[in-house]
Amino acid sequence: MNPQPYWVAGRTATGDDVVEVRHPYDDGLAGATWDATPAHVEEAVAAAHAVRHELAATPAHVRAAALDHVSRRLHERREEVAALITAENGKPLRWARLEVARAVSTFRWGAEEARRWSGELQRLDTDPAATGRMALVRRAPRGPVLGIAPFNFPLNLVAHKVSPALAAGAPIVVKPAPATPLTALLLGELLAETDLPAGAWSVLPMPNEAAAALVQDPRLPVVSFTGSVPVGWGIKEAAPRKHVTLELGGNAAVVVAPDWSSAEDLAVAARRTATFAMYQAGQSCIAVQRVLVHRSSYDAFLERLVAEVEALGTGDPRDEATDVGPLVDERAARRVEEWVAEAVSRGTTVVTGGTREGASFAPTVLTGAPDDVKVACEEVFGPVVVVGPYDDVDEAFARVNASDFGLQAGVFTHDLQTAFRAGRVLEVGGVVVGDVPSFRADQMPYGGVKDSGVGREGVRAAMLDLTEERVLVLTGIDV
Ligand code: SIN
Repeated sequence: MNPQPYWVAGRTATGDDVVEVRHPYDDGLAGATWDATPAHVEEAVAAAHAVRHELAATPAHVRAAALDHVSRRLHERREEVAALITAENGKPLRWARLEVARAVSTFRWGAEEARRWSGELQRLDTDPAATGRMALVRRAPRGPVLGIAPFNFPLNLVAHKVSPALAAGAPIVVKPAPATPLTALLLGELLAETDLPAGAWSVLPMPNEAAAALVQDPRLPVVSFTGSVPVGWGIKEAAPRKHVTLELGGNAAVVVAPDWSSAEDLAVAARRTATFAMYQAGQSCIAVQRVLVHRSSYDAFLERLVAEVEALGTGDPRDEATDVGPLVDERAARRVEEWVAEAVSRGTTVVTGGTREGASFAPTVLTGAPDDVKVACEEVFGPVVVVGPYDDVDEAFARVNASDFGLQAGVFTHDLQTAFRAGRVLEVGGVVVGDVPSFRADQMPYGGVKDSGVGREGVRAAMLDLTEERVLVLTGIDV
C-alpha cells in the first residue's frame, strides 16, 4: 500500500518516516502516510502567514465556491470516505456514513456563511460630538489558524476547523490525530481541486509532541484544539498570548424527569440512551455517560435500557449490522476495563457488559456507582453508562452540575417549566430537551464550560471565534 502524500500549502509532499495506520478491529493495515518533515512544516506555516492578507481579501464567491465544492465532492465520494473512516478509526460503517453526511453539511454551511458574512453599520450620531459619523463594524481574521483534530471524528471535527476558517478568510494548518490522518488527507484532495490560493491550507500528519513548536509559533496566532483535557489546557497555558479555542471532554448526563413516564416515553428514552451511550464505542465527548432517572420510573427504565443495550450488534465495524465496534486501540479498551474494575471494587454493579476482547469493550450498564469513581466523575470515552435514581428534579440538576465538565446535557421532559429551568440552571454549553445530550446539528454553537473547554464551534460560532471586530469610522456622513 503506497503511503498517502500529505499537503503542504496546497501541494502534495512526502516525508522520510512512513507512518502505518492500523485498523482498530483486527490490526490490519488501513493505510499509510508520512510524518511531515520539519522543512515542510516550516514551508506550510510560512505560506499560511504569507497568504493571510490575500485570503482575507479573496472574494466571498471564491471562498464559498471552494467550500461548496468540497461539500459536493464529499457527497459524491461518500462511500469511499466512510469506508476510510471505518478503516482507520474503527467506527461502524453506519456511523461513518453519518459523519460524512454531517461533514457535507459543515462545508455547505461554511459556503453559506461566507456569503452572508458582512458586518454591520452602527450609527454614532447619538451624541453631539459624533454628529455626521457612522461606524462600519466588520470582523477580520485574527490570523492563520493551527487546527489540531482528534481521532473520534476524523472527518467532521477536521471540517469544523477548516470550513469556518476558510469561510472567514483565515489560512489553516491542520494537524490530524496520529491515529487517523488518512481521512484528513483525503479531504486535502478535495481542497486541492478548488481555486483557493496556495498557503490557504495544509494538512500535516505528525506525532503529538511535534505540535508543541507549532503551538508556540507566532505566525499561527490562533489555536483551535479538540482533544483531551490536560493537553488542551496545557496548550492554553503554554500560549497565553494566543487565541485558543478548546473543545475538550465531557461526561454528559441525561435526566429523565418524573413527567416522562408513560411506557412509550420510557421506551424512547431507553432506546436513545442505549444508542448514544454506546455509539462510536462511547468515543464522543457528548456520549451519554450518566443517567439520572426519577425513582418512580427507575426500575422500568433500567429494564428497558438493559434490553436495548443487549440488542446492540457488536463486532466488525465493516459489517453493516454492527452498532458498536472497537475502541481506537487496545490501550484505550484496557483503560476502560480498569475504570470499570475500580468501580466494581467500590461496590458498583455491572448489570450487563463489563468484558473486553482486544480493542473491543462490551456495551456496559453500571448501577450503584459512587459519585467519585472514575466512570462517574471522569470522561470514560468508552461504551459505559452509569445509571441511578433521584427523588427531586432540582437534586438531579445539582448532580449533573457536580462535575468538572459541562459540555451538553439531555433532559427528557414534556414540561415547559422543567425545560426552561434546565436551560437556566444546568452548567453546560447546551441542553437538549426531549433527547440525549449527544444531539448536535453542525450549524449550532457547540462547546463547553468548566473543564470542557472555552470558545464555541458550529460554523458561524467558530467564524466569530476566529475573527475580531474592526471598526471603520466614517466622517461627514449625512446619516
Ligand atoms: C465531540 O466529540 O466533541 C464531537 C461530537 C459531535 O460532533 O457529534
